[in-house]
Amino acid sequence: MARPAPDAEVDPRTLRAVLGNFCTGVTVITAHDGRRPLGFACQSVTSLSLDPPYVSFCPAKTSTSWPAMRAVESVCINVLAADQKEVCGRFAVSGGDKFEGLPWFRGDNGAPVVSGALARIEAELAFEHEAGDHTIAVCRVTALEAARDVDPLLFFRGGYGSFADM
Ligand SMILES: Cc1cc2nc3c(=O)[nH]c(=O)nc-3n(C[C@H](O)[C@H](O)[C@H](O)COP(=O)(O)O)c2cc1C
Repeated sequence: MARPAPDAEVDPRTLRAVLGNFCTGVTVITAHDGRRPLGFACQSVTSLSLDPPYVSFCPAKTSTSWPAMRAVESVCINVLAADQKEVCGRFAVSGGDKFEGLPWFRGDNGAPVVSGALARIEAELAFEHEAGDHTIAVCRVTALEAARDVDPLLFFRGGYGSFADM
């Protein structure tokens, strides 16, 4: 098979479609700026380092919430459960009050914890690296809890799903 030249154009739709075969969980990343809760749906979460305890995620440069969240520095990564597809949908849009009617409370670091989430990981922004049309946010974990013993919400090829027994 011929290799593409290093500078060959990669079609963004192809990139999205092929990378969509990498199944992930789904999170809602939240922060509180003192006036209002903020958050966005995010699948690019990675367990990065055990010592020190770092996690990373990649906010798009088009994110309207991330600039205010970055300034706060204290975030909560809410890992969504299989029954929280609607929660993901409300955080996958820009603008409006995404928390309206949603049960949540402030975690140890002040960031909103979404009730019913599978797990919560509270963290402080440590570094942020440039990465094309996204950035890579590296955060130091300060508190965490696996709150529910249920299946996760999964994202695969642009659709939602959950585990099935093999
Ligand atoms: C399953 C799923 C995963 C997503 N993952 C990311 C992600 O990793 N990074 C990101 O910036 N946006 C991601 N998004 C898109 C944002 O949630 C979406 O652009 C949202 O409107 C951003 O809100 P904001 O403008 O308030 O920041 C994802 C959306 C969905 C549905």
